Amino acid sequence: MAQLWGGRFTKETDQLVYNFNASISFDQKFYEQDIRGSKAHVTMLAKQGILTMEEKDAIIKGLDSIWEDVKSGKLEITSEYEDIHSFVEANLTQRVGDAGKKLHTGRSRNDQVALDMKLYVRDEIDEIDEEVKKLLFALQKIMEENLYTYMPGFTHLQKAQPVTLAHHIGAYFEMFRRDRGRLADIRSRMNTCPLGAGALAGTTYPLDREYTAKLLGFDEATRNSMDSVSDRDYVIELLSALSTIMMHLSRFCEEIILWNSNEYRFVEIDDAYSTGSSIMPQKKNPDIAELVRGKTGRVYGALMSMLTTMKGIPLAYNKDMQEDKELTFDAIDTVKGCIALFTGMAATMQFRKDNMEASAKNGFTNATDAADYLVNHGVPFRDAHGIVGRLVLLCIEKGIALDDLSLEEYKEISPVFEEDIYDAISMKTCVEKRMTIGAPGPDVMKQVVELNRKYLEQ
Ligand code: ARG
Repeated sequence: MAQLWGGRFTKETDQLVYNFNASISFDQKFYEQDIRGSKAHVTMLAKQGILTMEEKDAIIKGLDSIWEDVKSGKLEITSEYEDIHSFVEANLTQRVGDAGKKLHTGRSRNDQVALDMKLYVRDEIDEIDEEVKKLLFALQKIMEENLYTYMPGFTHLQKAQPVTLAHHIGAYFEMFRRDRGRLADIRSRMNTCPLGAGALAGTTYPLDREYTAKLLGFDEATRNSMDSVSDRDYVIELLSALSTIMMHLSRFCEEIILWNSNEYRFVEIDDAYSTGSSIMPQKKNPDIAELVRGKTGRVYGALMSMLTTMKGIPLAYNKDMQEDKELTFDAIDTVKGCIALFTGMAATMQFRKDNMEASAKNGFTNATDAADYLVNHGVPFRDAHGIVGRLVLLCIEKGIALDDLSLEEYKEISPVFEEDIYDAISMKTCVEKRMTIGAPGPDVMKQVVELNRKYLEQ
């Protein structure tokens, strides 16, 4: 057991207590951030004359060598140390002697861990954003290629009105674009540096906190030292944003699973992204989509867990907060993995365009347009609704589509119908006449695709 705080104790820590308390098994994940923070800290201490330049140089050299050795695998992070902070400080002192013992001047593990966690979360936000962006590129490509691919749009999972595949995928584009906005928002709000808050009440050393903040790429130093060491809002905000990303992925997966089924046959998931059955030779299962849908629960769990952990904590730092790490790390890794796999699956999926179009044709998705035809000829909408309802009933009895009724049959129910009804309710007209911004009409969708392209180029 290598601890930083033996002085006032007369007894060794019980081994079970030590194990229960230690965080090295998981906080080693941010050794890089811990070292980065320490380098900025000693650079500031030297600038302020609290350490000599020689001491600073020795410490930085030592920290760099620890970083290199851990990265290359030469130096192993072991459970002999309580946490990553103890590990780095002990190794530093071994390497550079007494100067190493000065690293922790004007600092507490409370502001140190707050900093490490912030640096880690900030780095990961950037990586997650990259993954979401790659997904958006994949969706953009599908949209560009499918401006004229007709398919049924659904409400209540019942065929409603015809749309295009580009339009349907475009809905997800919007969701993931908002997700990126949420990530950027969290990043800008959390970008304040807690280092220098000390244990909770700052320090008596003349630290230059703004300088440390700048060195680490923060906008400014935090403004209240107690809040600095006990704030995990940004973790909760991130977990919430990650939960929303997973919710979006999960909805998308649900649709892909349906579309990939024998009943729909709208898509064919690539063999590389499907699995078979050990007993049923015919099976090709959408396991990846199902797993992404399943892992959503795990990420929601992290959010709920973190909210619950924080709810009863008095100011300032309390050890409960150590619980933030494992679940945040797990949620981040889960989400990054899920987005990457989903992107691969979406980019390789085959769309069965003829099945989509056939499905749009045989579900009365043009019934609203038939009613609109009557309205355009002076029939009040409520009457038009009733007339087309009777036509639909007739079609159901005969097992045909609205397009297949004869003009006589139309006229029997309403004399307003003329030959041009067929053109008015054709799939092409139904989709292409929907030209207001946000609608599926290809001309207006082209404008959206162009806006998306510009957005992705930023
Ligand atoms: N392992 C601790 C955590 O993750 C680091 C801070 C410890 N501070 C303390 N006073 N025990 O929160």
